[in-house]
Amino acid sequence: MDMINRQWILARRPQANIGPDDFEYREITFVPPILQDREILVRSRLFRFLPTMRTYMKGSQFRKPMPEGAPMQSPAAAEVIGSNNPDFPVGSIVSVMMGWQDYAVLDPSDHSDGFSAGFGMLKPEGMSLIDFEGLYGVNSLTAYFGLLEIGAPAAGETLLVSGAAGSTGSMVAQIGKLHGCRVIGIAGGRDKCDWLVDELGLDGAIDYKSEDVGARLGELCPRGVNIFFDNVGGAILDFAVDHMAPFGRIALCGQISSYDDGESLATGPRNMMRVIYWRLKMQGFVVSDYRNAFETAYADLRRWHEEGRVRHSSDIYEGFRLLPRTFMRLFDGTSKGTLLLRSD
Ligand SMILES: NC(=O)c1ccc[n+]([C@@H]2O[C@H](COP(=O)([O-])OP(=O)(O)OC[C@H]3O[C@@H](n4cnc5c(N)ncnc54)[C@H](OP(=O)(O)O)[C@@H]3O)[C@@H](O)[C@H]2O)c1
Repeated sequence: MDMINRQWILARRPQANIGPDDFEYREITFVPPILQDREILVRSRLFRFLPTMRTYMKGSQFRKPMPEGAPMQSPAAAEVIGSNNPDFPVGSIVSVMMGWQDYAVLDPSDHSDGFSAGFGMLKPEGMSLIDFEGLYGVNSLTAYFGLLEIGAPAAGETLLVSGAAGSTGSMVAQIGKLHGCRVIGIAGGRDKCDWLVDELGLDGAIDYKSEDVGARLGELCPRGVNIFFDNVGGAILDFAVDHMAPFGRIALCGQISSYDDGESLATGPRNMMRVIYWRLKMQGFVVSDYRNAFETAYADLRRWHEEGRVRHSSDIYEGFRLLPRTFMRLFDGTSKGTLLLRSD
């Protein structure tokens, strides 16, 4: 049976900030092919937005650029509507990289790109779609492993988190609190900073858009920062290194401050002598490194959530037509928590 497949395609490769003209809407006739061994036919239900989709748009030494004229590559929770794979029966919901479109045929167990953490995961019975992509989504796993494995928090230590009101950052901050850390967040705008302190219970927040970050770090972290979880890079990382305590750990999670910057890379910290004399550790990580331990993280997240010690915030939009505009929210600071879009 022929179907209409709505798509948002990458119309051109933006050099700076993304805008509506970088995307083009189209409807094409879709004739479902005969499924090959392990393939499934899926219908998108809930789209999630990754800041790194911006880097896939331009390409990098780590990943080929998305092809122009093809659907924007993006993760989604999708319903299996046809299956030649016994692990993914019709009616199940699976997290996949399927692009901004209604229908796709794929092999959900193909992780050959090495980055597809959380893809091919089946939604457990009884879990809501929002929790599947939010509370138990890849960003919570990123927060969990980046903080606990690289940050190695101990009670009484000071944890600094950049991008603290975002999807990953807000989970890092809360997991840090429940491990007994003093937690300071950095976010853009008074509203987000108030939310971090008043609602999530952080010990302080710095509005990097209106405050002197260096001066505020000095006030809020007088004994230095023991752990810095960095989602942002660039100038914020530079300030943080200047305020690290001896034997501090820096978990390098992302560099969102530079994702819009064309070909240029974010600057690194200048104060490398502090890294040496204070015996600091800086380590990058990719959440898929921890794939074999995801079940442990899910169990902890579930328990903490049930105990009311961790809450998850989602920012949910409705309607396929809004995909590009919703994606832009990641970069203009208007998103809080995990940004999701429910397809209609
Ligand atoms: N290593 C891994 O395995 C892994 C996995 C997942 C995500 N990540 C990385 O983790 C980071 C957070 O991802 P997420 O999905 O949780 O996104 P997110 O934090 O929800 O991202 C959106 C937020 O980033 C902030 N932001 C946007 N542009 C910025 C800029 N130029 N300078 C400073 N802050 C800016 C904005 O908050 P403000 O209003 O506060 O500026 C925005 O609301 C990203 O860098 C992402 O690439 C890494």
